[in-house]
Amino acid sequence: MKKVNIGLIGFGTIGSGVAEVLENRQKFIREHSGLDVAIKWVCDKNHAVLKKVRLGQTKITSNAYDVLRDKNIDIVIELIGGTKEAKDVIVKAIKAKKHVVTANKALLALYGREIFKIADKNSIMVRFGASVGGGIPIIRALREGFISNRLDRIYGIINGTSNFILTKMADGKYDFGKALREAQEKGFAERNPELDISGMDSAHKLAILILIGFRFPINFKDIYVEGIGGIEAGDIEYAKEYGYTIKLLAIAKRNNGRLEARVHPTLLPNAHVLSNVSGIYNAIHIKGDLIGESLFYGEGAGKFPTAGTVVSDIIDIGSRLRTESKDYILVSDSENKLSGIKKIGEIRTRYYARFSAIDKPGVLAKISGILARHNISIASVTQKERKTAQVVPIVMMTHEVLEADMQKAIRTIDNLDIIKDKSIRIKVESE
Ligand code: HSE
Repeated sequence: MKKVNIGLIGFGTIGSGVAEVLENRQKFIREHSGLDVAIKWVCDKNHAVLKKVRLGQTKITSNAYDVLRDKNIDIVIELIGGTKEAKDVIVKAIKAKKHVVTANKALLALYGREIFKIADKNSIMVRFGASVGGGIPIIRALREGFISNRLDRIYGIINGTSNFILTKMADGKYDFGKALREAQEKGFAERNPELDISGMDSAHKLAILILIGFRFPINFKDIYVEGIGGIEAGDIEYAKEYGYTIKLLAIAKRNNGRLEARVHPTLLPNAHVLSNVSGIYNAIHIKGDLIGESLFYGEGAGKFPTAGTVVSDIIDIGSRLRTESKDYILVSDSENKLSGIKKIGEIRTRYYARFSAIDKPGVLAKISGILARHNISIASVTQKERKTAQVVPIVMMTHEVLEADMQKAIRTIDNLDIIKDKSIRIKVESE
């Protein structure tokens, strides 16, 4: 039996879930993996939560460095979140020759490559399965199952909170605020839910998927990010009439030797497999050049799905220590065959657009004239019944257009006197 000593740093929802799983599955883990996993330290800044630790052989502290100084610790579990202190803890743990498990997506999105390189230099294993997709083993699938492939595309619904809000709005029962409150009550939303709504949480996760899946050294700020804050129930309704569902989609795709990396609300055809991913569920749809298309679906957040993945990472590292077969995260720049990022303005896509215009003769002609001058071809247009005395929604689908042209056209249209509210435009993915 291989003894594995754990230092658990961060005892919030996931940390306490990890402790529960390790305690309840001790016999199971021994029998299945030949590991005797013991939590030697629990660390949290909040003294109140430390009172909940079932002590036994476990020591408690509010100073992470107590854990890092302990020579008997084999694996440090970082669950404190944030990027500053967490980075310091992880780097110091690696230099103290402790293996690391983390669920910290923001940290890996910004410093993943740097951390993996330090770990590689120190012969230390880092695992982060819970950083993307909670209970979905997508990181392991990319590192192992897809290793022989060159990826063409990743589409991901990877923020449960946004998906929950959009689903509830589409059902017509909730408005945005009520849906967000319920996601917070259920414990899915980030401590700062702005990260969910703004698309940043999805972008953090997309950066990790790109780093591991495409082996591309993505610079986080090169990811285009747009959240769901501007989506109205009416847009979901109009999209439905055209046969589409609105999802917050994280997209990475190979395009003529460069990579598109973007997060934004997206119209997906109702028949698309991701259109049917509802509520807090996450799904990642991948296309590799050998394997073809694969779909991963499951609970993307929550105490036990996430804690379960953290414990799987612990077992993975423990098993490799037992068999003396270390496995590092290698990030090569040479094999991805990508020469850079495609800027958002260079992307060609179809659009859904909604204009809030005064209902009077010539309005439609003015809008379509501006679109035509910017090379934007309209595929269909509908003028809806007036909702207020003056303003009428004009809803359109375009053919494929250049994003830069669309941006310019919308800016010009929004400056017209006849336009009474900011125009809405949502990209369409029909592949
Ligand atoms: N806030 C995240 C979500 C939690 O809603 O998906 C999981 O990363």
